[in-house]
Amino acid sequence: MKILLIFIYITVYLFNSISCQQLYANFLPYQNSQCENESFGIGMSIAVGNCINGIGSMAGIENDLNWYLFINALRVGIKEFDPIDQDCSGNFTNFYSFKNSTCTITPPFLGYIASNYSAAVKGGLPLNQQYSRFFITNQPYYGLPNSITQVYSKYKNNNCSNTKNLLYSIFISDSLEIQFNQNSTSPTTTTISSISYQCDSNNDANQDICKNQSSCNNILVSTNCKENNLKEEIYCKNN
Ligand SMILES: *[C@@H]1O[C@H](CO)[C@@H](O)[C@H](O)[C@H]1NC(C)=O
Ligand SMILES: *[C@@H]1O[C@H](CO)[C@@H](O)[C@H](O)[C@H]1NC(C)=O
Ligand SMILES: *[C@@H]1O[C@H](CO)[C@@H](O)[C@H](O)[C@H]1NC(C)=O
Ligand SMILES: *[C@@H]1O[C@H](CO)[C@@H](O)[C@H](O)[C@H]1NC(C)=O
Ligand SMILES: *[C@@H]1O[C@H](CO)[C@@H](O)[C@H](O)[C@H]1NC(C)=O
Ligand SMILES: *[C@@H]1O[C@H](CO)[C@@H](O)[C@H](O)[C@H]1NC(C)=O
Ligand SMILES: *[C@@H]1O[C@H](CO)[C@@H](O)[C@H](O)[C@H]1NC(C)=O
Repeated sequence: MKILLIFIYITVYLFNSISCQQLYANFLPYQNSQCENESFGIGMSIAVGNCINGIGSMAGIENDLNWYLFINALRVGIKEFDPIDQDCSGNFTNFYSFKNSTCTITPPFLGYIASNYSAAVKGGLPLNQQYSRFFITNQPYYGLPNSITQVYSKYKNNNCSNTKNLLYSIFISDSLEIQFNQNSTSPTTTTISSISYQCDSNNDANQDICKNQSSCNNILVSTNCKENNLKEEIYCKNN
C-alpha cells in the first residue's frame, strides 16, 4: 500500500512537472513548399495555452483573427476563431494540426489575406501560401539562427525580461519586402503598396512603408518595454 502511494505520488509529481512546463510552437519560414535551403520570411514562436489576438498587426499587417494553440505529444493543435471572438470562447472556425519537425503551409497567423494576388514576399510566395518547418520547444525562438532578423515580441505584462511572460514572437528576415497588390479590395492594400523591413547600422528595426514607388516613409520601430506600456519589444538581432 505504502509503495503504491509512493508510486502514485511520483507519477503525479512527474506528470505535473511535465505539464507545467511552458511549450512553444515555432514556425521557421521558407519560400518553397519543401522548406529547402535558407530559412527566409516571417517566422513565429507562439506560447501554447493562450488566446492570442492579431498576431500580424505588430508587423504592420492587418489582422483580426484570434488563435488558441495546444500541444498533444508531438503534435500541435491550432484553433482559429472569428474576429469578434476575442477571448476564443466560442466555436473555432478552422483547425490545423502539425507534427513536430514537418514542413507545412503556414496558418494565416499574419492576416486574413485570402487571395494569392493580394500580397506576396518579394521574390517569394504569396502571404497566404507561405511554408514553415514546425518545431515544438520549451524555449521560444527570438529570431532565426544564422541570420539578421527583426524580432517583434508581445508579452502578457511589462516584464519583457522574463521569457515566461511571452505570448508570441514574430521574426522577419532583414530586407524582406512585402508587396501589396493595389487592385485587391483589402484595406491595407489600397493604402500601402509595400513594406520593407530593415535593420540599420545602429541595429535598430526600421520599416519602409510605401504608398507607391515614389512615396515612401521610413519609420523607426524599435522599442522596449520600458519606453511604453504596450507590453512589447521590437529590436534587430544577428543570431
Ligand atoms: C535549393 O538549392 C539548390 C542548390 O542551390 C537548388 O538546386 C534547389 O533548386 C533549391 N531548392 C529550392 C526549393 O529552391
Ligand atoms: C457551437 O456549436 C454547437 C454545435 O454545433 C452549437 O450548438 C452552438 O450553438 C455553437 N455555439 C456558438 C457560440 O456558435
Ligand atoms: C522535434 O523535432 C526536433 C528535430 O527533429 C527534435 O530536435 C526535437 O527534440 C523534437 N521535439 C520534441 C518535443 O520531440
Ligand atoms: C494560389 O496559388 C496556389 C499555389 O501557387 C495554387 O495552387 C492555387 O490554385 C492558387 N489559387 C488561386 C485562387 O488562384
Ligand atoms: C522581471 O522578471 C525577472 C525574471 O523573472 C525578475 O528577475 C525581475 O525581478 C522582474 N522584474 C519586475 C520589475 O518585476
Ligand atoms: C491591376 O489592374 C489593372 C487594371 O485592371 C491591370 O492593368 C494591372 O495589371 C493589375 N495589376 C496587378 C498587379 O494585378
Ligand atoms: C504617390 O503618392 C503620392 C502621395 O500620396 C502622390 O502625391 C503621388 O502622385 C503618387 N505617385 C504616383 C506615381 O502614383
